[in-house]
Formats: sequence, structure tokens, C-alpha cells
Amino acid sequence: MFRKALRTISEFKFTKLQDQWSQNLAIQPTACPDTKGFMEKLSNLRKQSVFGDPKRIERQHSRNRLTARERVELLVDPGTFVEYDQLVTHRCVNFGMEKSHHPGDGLVSGHGYVNGRLVFLYSFDFTVGGGTLSETVAEKICKVQDKAMDAGAPIIGINDSGGARIQEGVVSLGGYADIFHRNVQSSGVIPQFSLIMGPCAGGAVYSPALTDFILMVKKSSYMFVTGPDVVKQVTNEDIDMEGLGGAKIHSSKSGVSHFALDNDIDALLFLRKFLEFIPSNNREKAPTKPTADPHDRLVPSLDRFVPDDPNKPYDMKSVVKMISDDEYFLEVQPDWAKNIIIGFGRLGGETVGYIANQPAFLAGVLDRLSSIKAARFIRFCDAFNIPIVTFEDVPGYLPGVHEEHNGIITHGAKILYAYSEATVPKITVITRKSYGGAYCVMNSKHLRGDYNYTWPTGEIAVMGAKGACEIIFRGGDVQNEIKKYEEKFANPLGAAQRGFIDEIITPRDTRKRLIADLKVLKGKTQSKPWKKHGNIPL
Ligand code: HXC
Repeated sequence: MFRKALRTISEFKFTKLQDQWSQNLAIQPTACPDTKGFMEKLSNLRKQSVFGDPKRIERQHSRNRLTARERVELLVDPGTFVEYDQLVTHRCVNFGMEKSHHPGDGLVSGHGYVNGRLVFLYSFDFTVGGGTLSETVAEKICKVQDKAMDAGAPIIGINDSGGARIQEGVVSLGGYADIFHRNVQSSGVIPQFSLIMGPCAGGAVYSPALTDFILMVKKSSYMFVTGPDVVKQVTNEDIDMEGLGGAKIHSSKSGVSHFALDNDIDALLFLRKFLEFIPSNNREKAPTKPTADPHDRLVPSLDRFVPDDPNKPYDMKSVVKMISDDEYFLEVQPDWAKNIIIGFGRLGGETVGYIANQPAFLAGVLDRLSSIKAARFIRFCDAFNIPIVTFEDVPGYLPGVHEEHNGIITHGAKILYAYSEATVPKITVITRKSYGGAYCVMNSKHLRGDYNYTWPTGEIAVMGAKGACEIIFRGGDVQNEIKKYEEKFANPLGAAQRGFIDEIITPRDTRKRLIADLKVLKGKTQSKPWKKHGNIPL
């Protein structure tokens, strides 16, 4: 199919797609006798809906953006899209709106298949009234949201919209609230994805914010609660749309977005790949993918991977890659809170979620943002039955006035809460430092870690040698005591002797070991006390 070769918007074969649509729309003359000209009228309405206004489409393309329908076609398997409500029109009679109707209004919605799996989707059509949300657009979205829940299938929203349709007033706002409510009801039941491929402003940002993953397109999408003009009026700050809420900002600074892709095509094809890791609902397991990569593959280069000098950084991402099937790791939020790594990979064909401290960035310290990042990911994995594998090398929580005054206590508790609450299989491998509160937090045995390992390079203690000795031997021969402390605590023996660590493993065995454990844990069930819901420190 042509989609594989596509890389840029200009390569996209619009005409080819339009030929395909024409064929789909052709009404068989023999199907029904067209005595009252009804079939012709129907055919015209459908054509109007599908082909749209060429001038507006050209404007959309000139801005490096695909149309709503082109996006849908790229996302789903060819020929599988089934559209709903193609003939729905708005009901607004304010400001002359009764004179302009477009069949389908500003949204394309329905279901289709991605890699053979059912998904529900909606795509805002910016070429119709700026893709704004009318009462009927909201109703169309709610319909697919409800159907996705009934079917237990993921829902994907493609956003490109001027927000609430101003002419419709409060009716449009009510429509947003109806969507938000369904987002919340669906949370943790079916996976929800938001693609941001144009403007997404005002309260409209809150539907994507309630979904599990947000994918933005660089330089053609932006999200903000109020735009640059309002910002200027209220705070007197000068900023453009890209600087305020572009893909780069939201994927590296605010953490709102999980991925920033180069263009519409990359984003849509990436989402197809991403979906391969995700189960359809909270009662299913993630799809498996058989691999030729031997389950008992040893990774000898890991034996000398951790530097002798405990203060020397190394790249934990490489560790995650080296042990994964085919060395493939799909990182989530790669540019935000880089001191912790999160993402998906496979072990022996099974999807796993990885959480790993990154010694190569801020020494892998835990701070507010890394805690928030990891906690949300852990909760996604737990909600959707994805086992969690943790790689740990963390010197502790980040000290400092800035962190304390900005709530490290509350935010740092999030990761602890999330690990402790999770009942999916949970395995931890300590590669080097496991100090202080971070020892407890990073899926320790005490939080019901199923298998807890350390490499021989593990250091498990209340704090590093220097800090510890300066406290307990203040005024004494600190240097001498540091050596003694290191001998006693800068190794994993104490934890192993207590059973806090199940085994000290040779690094090369890590992959083999994890795959064997996941097999043992396949049927794991763990109960929790009845509750309406917990109260995670938000
Ligand atoms: C009605 C709108 C509209 C809106 C755009 N249009 N926004 N119509 N209500 N909110 C129409 C335009 O009139 C135009 O119609 C067409 O859509 C395309 O818009 P352009 O301005 O020509 O496009 P562009 O230059 O690309 O600018 C896009 C834009 C800009 C940045 C989105 O249109 C804009 O700033 N719109 C207002 C955004 C906004 O403030 N929305 C309300 C947010 S508050 P014609 O017929 O001329 O082509 C909100 C509350 C939700 O959404 C609360 C939920 C809790």
C-alpha cells in the first residue's frame, strides 16, 4: 500500500484517495429504483460531505496539514473505515447560520481497524467552520465514545479545531462537558488517544488532557487554555503560538504531550505502531508478538556496563534496549523529565512497560516531574494489564529549596502510590544505587514487588557514604569511616540477607531471567480492599 512509502505531506496521493472515495460513493443504478430522484439527492449530499470545498482543502494542505478524511484513511487499515452520521447537519439559526450547512458538519467519525484490530475514531474537519464544536459535532463524538465503550475498543480523537462554535453559545459548551464526562468514564476501561494536528485551544484542551496519550505534530499544532493575545492582555507577556503551546514546548517543558512527530503522516503511522503494544480494553492482555530473538539470549556486554566509579554516568536506555526483544524500545515522553525513562518493549513476545532511572541525566535523581511522569505511566500499565519492569539506579530524592517549596513531598508520593497500588506483575532490577526513600519507592519488595533483583554492583543504603558519615561521625575521622561504610553498605549483601532482594544476578542473565519470571507471573492475581476509589496525592 502507498502509505508505507509516504514521508511528507506533498507525497500524499490526494487524487488517488479521491478516486477511491468516488468508487465507494458510486450508487449502483440497479440497487433501488430512483423514482423520486431521492438517490441522486443522497448521492450529492454524500459527495459534498466527502469531497468538501477544494479551496479550503488547498489552504489546509498549504499549511502542511492533511484533511480530516485523509487522516482517517492513513490511520486505519485500507478500506476498513465505516463512517457514522455523514448526513448530520447543525441546528443553529443564529447569525445567519441556518443558511450554511455541510453534511456531516465539522467532523468525520466512525470505526475502522488498525493492524486488524477494531478502533473507534473521530477527526475534526477544519475546512468546515474551522472544525469548531457545535451541538451536533459534540453528539457525533459522544456517539463514538459510547460505541467504543460498548465494544471495548480504543478511541482515537484527531483534533484540529477552533474550539467552541461561537454562534452556538452555551450549547457548544455543554457539548464539551458531555465529551469530558465520557472521557472520564472511559478512563482505565478503554485506551484513549489524542492526536493534535492543528489548533486545540480553550477548554477544548481538556478532552485530550483526560486521555491516556497525546501526540502532537511539530510546527502545525498547538494547545493552550488562552492564546497569545489573551496572555498579552492579562500578563503582558509577548509570545507566539508555537512558543506558548507548540509540540516542542508540550513534549519537553510542560509534559502535556507524550510525543512530538514531524508531520501528520509520521504521527498517524507512529500511532499505528504504538497501538501494537496496547490492549483493546482493561479486560484484555496486550497483543503478543512472536520473536526470533532467543528467550534465553545472554547479554555479556552488560557484565561490565556499570562504571567502577559510582559517580560516573551511563545510559540506562541502552540497558533497556539490550535486554528487550530485537533490542526494540518505544520510549514515551523522551524529552521531558529525562531523569526517568518510561516506555514499552517486549520480553519473550509479551508487552512490558519499563520504568528506569537514567543516571545519564541529573544522576537519575527522583524529583517532582520524574515522579509525576512515572506515576501516570505505572497507572496506565496497571489499568491495562501490562507487566512493569523497573531498572533502578537512583541516588534518592532531589534535595533543595526549589523542590521542597514546589511540593516534592506531594508529587514524590505519586510514584510511591502508583507502584504500591499496582497489581500487575512487577519486577525490579537494581543496577547500582538504591538509596534512601528511592529504595522504598522504586517497586521494592515492601510494595509487593514480585521479583526484586540486583546486579553485584548494587548499593542499597539509607544514603551515600560521604553524606552518611558526615552525619554519624561529625567531628571524627570521617574519611576513615567512609571506607568502612562503603564496605558495609555499598553492596547488596545486607538486602539479600534479609530477603528484600530475591537474588543477586549476573547482568548478562537479566533478559533470560525476566522472561522466565514473566512466564511464572502470567496468571498473577492480587486483591485490594474494597473502595470507591483511592485518593492519590494529586
Ligand atoms: C466559530 C470559528 C471559530 C469559532 C474559527 N472559526 N474559530 N467559527 N467559532 N470558535 C471559523 C472562522 O470564522 C473561519 O470561518 C474558519 O473557522 C477558519 O478560521 P480562520 O480564522 O480563517 O483560520 P486560521 O487563520 O487558521 O485561525 C484558526 C484559529 C482562529 C487560530 C483557530 O480561527 C481562532 O483564533 N479562532 C478562535 C479560537 C477560539 O478562541 N475559540 C474559542 C475557545 S474557547 P470562514 O467561514 O471565514 O472560513 C472554547 C471554550 C471551550 O473553546 C470550553 C470548554 C470547556
